[in-house]
Amino acid sequence: MIPRETIASIMEAARIEEVVGEFMSLKRRGGNLIGICPFHKEKTPSFIVSPAKGIFKCFGCGKAGDSVRFIMEHEHYSYPEALRYLAKKYNIEIQESEETPEERAAQSEREAMFNLNVFAQKYFCNILHNDDEGRSVGLSYFRERDFLDPIIEKFQLGYCPDKRDAFTRYALDNGYSKELLVKTGLSTEHNNILYDRFQGRVIFPIFNLTGKVIGFGGRILTSDKTKAKYLNSPESEIYNKSQTLYGIYFAKNEISRQDRCILVEGYADVLSMHQAGIENVVASSGTSLTTEQIKMISRYTKNIMVLYDGDSAGIKAALRGTDMILAEGMNVRIVVLPPEEDPDSFVRHNPIEEVTRYISEQSKDFIRFKAELLLKDSGDDPIRRAQVTKEIIESISVIPDAIFRASYIKECSRILDMPEQTLMNELNKKLRAQFRKANGIDENVVTDEKPENSVEQPPMEDVLPRTYYVERDLIRLLLNYADENVMLEEENEEGQAETHAYSVASLIIDDITNDGFSFSDETNAEVFNIFAKALDDGEFPDTNFFIHNENQKIADLAADLLATPYKLDNWEKYEIFVAGESAVLKDLVIETVYRFKGIVIDERREEALKALQNEQDADNQMIILDKINTLDKIKKILNEKLGIVVIK
Ligand code: CTP
Ligand code: MN
Repeated sequence: MIPRETIASIMEAARIEEVVGEFMSLKRRGGNLIGICPFHKEKTPSFIVSPAKGIFKCFGCGKAGDSVRFIMEHEHYSYPEALRYLAKKYNIEIQESEETPEERAAQSEREAMFNLNVFAQKYFCNILHNDDEGRSVGLSYFRERDFLDPIIEKFQLGYCPDKRDAFTRYALDNGYSKELLVKTGLSTEHNNILYDRFQGRVIFPIFNLTGKVIGFGGRILTSDKTKAKYLNSPESEIYNKSQTLYGIYFAKNEISRQDRCILVEGYADVLSMHQAGIENVVASSGTSLTTEQIKMISRYTKNIMVLYDGDSAGIKAALRGTDMILAEGMNVRIVVLPPEEDPDSFVRHNPIEEVTRYISEQSKDFIRFKAELLLKDSGDDPIRRAQVTKEIIESISVIPDAIFRASYIKECSRILDMPEQTLMNELNKKLRAQFRKANGIDENVVTDEKPENSVEQPPMEDVLPRTYYVERDLIRLLLNYADENVMLEEENEEGQAETHAYSVASLIIDDITNDGFSFSDETNAEVFNIFAKALDDGEFPDTNFFIHNENQKIADLAADLLATPYKLDNWEKYEIFVAGESAVLKDLVIETVYRFKGIVIDERREEALKALQNEQDADNQMIILDKINTLDKIKKILNEKLGIVVIK
């Protein structure tokens, strides 16, 4: 745990222009700095740094945030890693506080496990290269498999003697405890006797992201079918299989550079690909792909190429992984190797040019892959085709981004030769069902199904509340001008005009809450509530509170909104009320509140109409009609007076 005060001093010291400036060149433009965005491929300067606000934002790819966020993105660090990096840069000492004695004990146990693993890895290496059995059995096995010295060296491969407890005894002699040997899984215990887990096996150390040895894989050298081909370290405090990718430490830079990760199944595949010069490769190593593994890759690239065996097990595994990758918002292509080949054999049997040609020519996006696979033996059978369509729509429906979903629908329509609109209807049905399920809405009660042939809304509408963008506009006003005053003319009791000053926050918040409205989007609502509470307390948090917020969604929202002037094409207007021209601000606030209310009222009217259609009872129908009437009146008043009305 990094103490809160330390985080605050890191934030203060880490000036955004300095932090960013270390990685890229920036040109001054007015109060801001601009440059070429390091996060996407465009070569036009779309990357803006605002020293005044302490944030960066790219208008090309949309990335935005504070110094910590920049380091996280640029160096692929986690939040604490980025803080530590900045602390080091600015000579700020981190006193790891708030650690309980148990946490400290756990920490030192983890450290002890790491130490033992390094000790073991060096031992296995040493045996492989310098011991008679190691050389004649282990090293010659690797040679036979065409693994050359540089790759054996790079991946620190080793060999464990084929004796009962050669390693265990050596470790005990060097002061490592029995408990630690069992905990790391290097030794196994039967009837109080310790055995080497990996006896007689070649060793593949497993490195984590930062290059620490967290476990081992050991391959048997015989074809003894009664024994497992590979043995792996058991799960422990330092080794979590579902969060580990074999080869990630050696591949991460290349994955980032090529903006693509190749995913294979086994240790041997990773080694052979590296040896062939293809270094953006990692393996899921025996476990089926997990969300955590995909998230780890997504720190470096959004593009995954799945390269699995040509056998049916390989294809099944590829299919299973695909939807998980899509659900993480990543792009996935699939390469099926020729029958009888795995990536390891394939790169050894073919020259590198052939390998890369095969990958680029044979790789298919998931739609084509799924369609071809599923349609292979269904011919023109319409029922079978409908089933295939359903399964592909299923995959498309897990993609979080509406724009990608739409482009995959296009692709799908081409491949299956079906009208885009039909597929879109099908997708929307699916999305609505998912939405209901996620929100605990009973399938049987909601009947918003539209007639088959009606034109559907684009899928984005299904996911974002309709008020989403206007809510953001209101928050933008709050973030920028909460405590600025604007003058409003009002009638007093004697019917005379009087002018009163209102803060922007009170105009927005009182007006919305008094009239019984609220925000629909969760993050928007949270920010709104923070301002509402601040209005009661009489003091507003400054923008840093939001930009550096613990809630990453709030931090992202604030950075995004603060980096953009109110309207990009209206920069001058923006400058005017910075200079204190409050008349413009007043109009803007009132207009935005009005727009928000208008949308909410439209929504309520639609709901009422729907209810009316389903209502059989005549009295209830009258009540609903009455409500619609009232809503129409309010809408009319809104249109005329811009705003201050009460609805119940
Ligand atoms: N695996 C495992 N335990 C096993 C078999 C396999 O953990 N009993 C994992 C290993 O990480 C292995 C991967 O699954 O690398 C793929 O298995 P397989 O294709 O059988 O192994 P290869 O990598 O092809 O190994 P080799 O070429 O050495 O036979
Ligand atoms: Mn193999």
